[in-house]
Amino acid sequence: MDRIRIRGGNELNGIIPISGAKNATLPLMIASLLTDDTLTLENVPHLADVEQLTRILGNHGVDFSVTGKRLRQESGFGRTIHFTARNIVDTTAPYDLVSKMRASFWVIGPLLARMHEAKVSLPGGCAIGTRPVDIFIDGLRALGADIDIEAGYVVAKAKGGLVGNRYRLPKVSVGATHVLMMAATLAKGETILENAAREPEIVDLATCLTAMGAKISGAGTSTIRIDGVRSLSGARHRVLPDRIETGTYAMAVAMTGGDVTLTGTSVDLLPTAVETLARAGAVVTPVEDGIRVYRNGGGISPVDVVTDPYPGFPTDLQAQFMALMTRASGTASITETIFENRFMHVQELARLGARIQLAGQVARIEGVPRLKGAPVMATDLRASVSLVIAGLVAEGDTEVSRVYHLDRGFERLEEKLGRCGAEIERISS
Ligand code: UD1
Repeated sequence: MDRIRIRGGNELNGIIPISGAKNATLPLMIASLLTDDTLTLENVPHLADVEQLTRILGNHGVDFSVTGKRLRQESGFGRTIHFTARNIVDTTAPYDLVSKMRASFWVIGPLLARMHEAKVSLPGGCAIGTRPVDIFIDGLRALGADIDIEAGYVVAKAKGGLVGNRYRLPKVSVGATHVLMMAATLAKGETILENAAREPEIVDLATCLTAMGAKISGAGTSTIRIDGVRSLSGARHRVLPDRIETGTYAMAVAMTGGDVTLTGTSVDLLPTAVETLARAGAVVTPVEDGIRVYRNGGGISPVDVVTDPYPGFPTDLQAQFMALMTRASGTASITETIFENRFMHVQELARLGARIQLAGQVARIEGVPRLKGAPVMATDLRASVSLVIAGLVAEGDTEVSRVYHLDRGFERLEEKLGRCGAEIERISS
């Protein structure tokens, strides 16, 4: 298993290109199941999760081809991939595939909408909490699906097709919003989703579905209206920039000092994180084609943060911000409200010398003057990158193991940081 070794102490200076958003790419790829035409996605990041979903979609009968630059071709950030689900050959998503990636459960929406049936394994346990699928099931039932749970599978049928309805999500769920929006595009009549997620990735999916012929309004607000159509066509769509990758590198620069321009992204994608970083002592300003980040010269200030659905502070940046707060000139608190078990990085940050106390969903981080390098273990995708951020300023060597977590969501991390002056290398074994 690969490890990443970082020798801390260098400032970051230069340019970091931001990749297409993983969390938009996955539902966009799944949307290809809705049409027998070709859906072309541009700016697709090269990530383990994307490869895994390609395999899962292939199992259902989706053909794909890649044009443009490929993995390991110089400057090949962002690929164009064509997905064609001419014939759906299998409406079952088996346990061994779904258990590897929760988002693959989302195929249930398009399969049910187009084929009127789907058998999808329950995703199973997940490191960052129980993450049930009750809202998906409730919502699809509201659209007329008959759903049973049989031997670990969600077995869904919609004889004659789904039917539009008004459905209020009991809790804001990004995945359930994606799935219900996709399912409703081919339902008979109008669907109104209330208390829908407002994440930019929801808007991106709605934009793509609209280009495919869907009738959707209100994406990006908490009420989304979808007028069902008989069929969807192919389209060409460019994946929006990854706001979590953007925020991660902005936090890395706030941690190390230096001056970095993040290209191909926008401050508009992460308003609360940008405002929080400014309070913590970073200057984050829009520039042509991106964002410039540097310290304001006053050190790192403690800032209290509560994670919330968009436009609040993203849970996916919580671990990275905690890493930053380990070096603040005072004590900060971080409250996690989205997932009940998303503090596994605390123990690992402590190995680097961080002082963090946990009480339920609240972490209190007492800033320390220095961190010291140590071997640490990645526990999940965002937690693993928080260890990298800490390692960038820790004295000596930090070695992060289990970096397959990082590879799920960060494209060429060591290359992007290395080009800006970080001493970072991947050790393959
Ligand atoms: C997506 C993101 C993930 C991010 C999360 C929250 C992708 C691929 N993943 O995950 O990176 O951390 O949004 O911003 O886009 N819930 C239920 N019942 C359900 C569905 C969800 O109780 O049926 C709960 C979850 O356990 C969690 C909360 O709702 O506590 C939010 O989860 P959700 O927004 O659905 O997260 P994901 O879509 O899985």
